[in-house]
Amino acid sequence: MPLSSHPTPEMEADSLENYFTSYEDVEIHRLMVSDAPRTQAYADAISKNKHLFNGKVVMDVGAGTGILSLFMAAAGAKKVYAVEASGMAPLIQKVSVDNNFADIIHVIHDKVENVKLPGDEKVDVIVSEWMGFYLLHESMLNSVIYARDNFLSDSGTMFPSEARIYACPCSLQSLYEEQITFWDNVYGFNMSAVKGFALKSKTTKPEVWLVSESDLLAEPVCIKSFSLKWVPGDEIKFFTSTTFVGITRSGPYQGLCLWFECDFDGRDYDEDGNEFGSLVTLSTSPFSPPTHWKQTVIVFGYGASQSQPHNLECDEENGANGVETDTQNSKNTEGNESQTKHERVQREKKDDCENKTEQNSAQKVKTDARETLTDFNNLVEEDEVVGWKLAMSQSEENVRHYTMTVEMLDPEESEHPMSCPCPNPRCLIIAKMLEQEMEDMELIAEVDDCIN
Ligand SMILES: C[S@@+](CC[C@H](N)C(=O)[O-])C[C@H]1O[C@@H](n2cnc3c(N)ncnc32)[C@H](O)[C@@H]1O
Ligand SMILES: [Zn+2]
Repeated sequence: MPLSSHPTPEMEADSLENYFTSYEDVEIHRLMVSDAPRTQAYADAISKNKHLFNGKVVMDVGAGTGILSLFMAAAGAKKVYAVEASGMAPLIQKVSVDNNFADIIHVIHDKVENVKLPGDEKVDVIVSEWMGFYLLHESMLNSVIYARDNFLSDSGTMFPSEARIYACPCSLQSLYEEQITFWDNVYGFNMSAVKGFALKSKTTKPEVWLVSESDLLAEPVCIKSFSLKWVPGDEIKFFTSTTFVGITRSGPYQGLCLWFECDFDGRDYDEDGNEFGSLVTLSTSPFSPPTHWKQTVIVFGYGASQSQPHNLECDEENGANGVETDTQNSKNTEGNESQTKHERVQREKKDDCENKTEQNSAQKVKTDARETLTDFNNLVEEDEVVGWKLAMSQSEENVRHYTMTVEMLDPEESEHPMSCPCPNPRCLIIAKMLEQEMEDMELIAEVDDCIN
């Protein structure tokens, strides 16, 4: 198994037992704990919101080496249930003793789904670091929701309190150079035949990659948010999001960049209306210091264009989260007539090597024709509108696995969401109207306040 602090999208399908065994590698824990933006966010969230922890009963779901349990004990928790399924659990016990928290930290060596608390006790706070790549990949969100539904008191707090997935069109020149065009000239030999396979593998799985801010081609859009206190288990089984954005930086549109942010919102008001507590945000965006999650990119490959649907699937049959491109099974079969001018130009450029039946292995070889188009970059220009529909659906056999489908949308033909950030005139007018409506409502609220 590749060494990584969370199971990566490239990994083969693992059984749940292997999943827990992977967390018995102490190096994985060192990588996580030493990820400063990650661990510091938890440290800040807890230490800046002591009111939530002081004298309280709390639970650490998936305690690992116990670092979050220590933060909570240090913040004054009366009792910390440190639940850990892997063989790390006995170490948490030793760590607690060594830090004089043996009376506070109660280690439970089991899956949280098997836990029974004495006298059906409820906890005031559940803290967990459950997030996977692009938030959901191999995440333990289901286990955290189980813990919430079974152990959290009605007035309890979930930390993190909110999680959001973001998406943004991006250039992937550095990835192409490092991993694809690298094969053009290797020690003076033409190894471009290997390049075809390299490219295919990049376009069939999401790639964990550090994207630089300057590679983003538009304003990022939040495509999904979850309130951890309230999200029903069903809502994480399947969701779709349709997004259109205006390009803000001309360049080669080579992929979609995904990342997530988590809020720890401990703010509250005292009797006099004064705010106390803090909001801490853990961001894995290209604008923030890098974390071990990096970003996740969906690589379009040279065959992509805005009108061409690009479906990707992550499921066990394709490897743990192998992502299969599927241009054939797409529902979006508009064809050339629904293309924008830009798309038509792009399509003309690659028409002779377009092959709609690239799915079967015999035809995979034909994709080599595409690889000769090394200058095909799917260039987009400022103010151009691009759109996609992203769907994530959880596997029934293994809730830690998701199938991700990305379908490119024609901005002229497809319906834009009601509140759309794109510069299409209709969307601009609606945005203006919504803004006006908000201002009016605020004004009415202010007048109401004055009258009362
Ligand atoms: C991402 S690590 C976080 C470890 C630690 N909380 C930290 O912040 O360094 C997740 C941990 O949760 C454990 N885990 C995952 N699912 C679990 C479950 N259902 N019940 C108990 N532990 C679980 C794993 O074994 C792993 O040690
Ligand atoms: Zn729009």
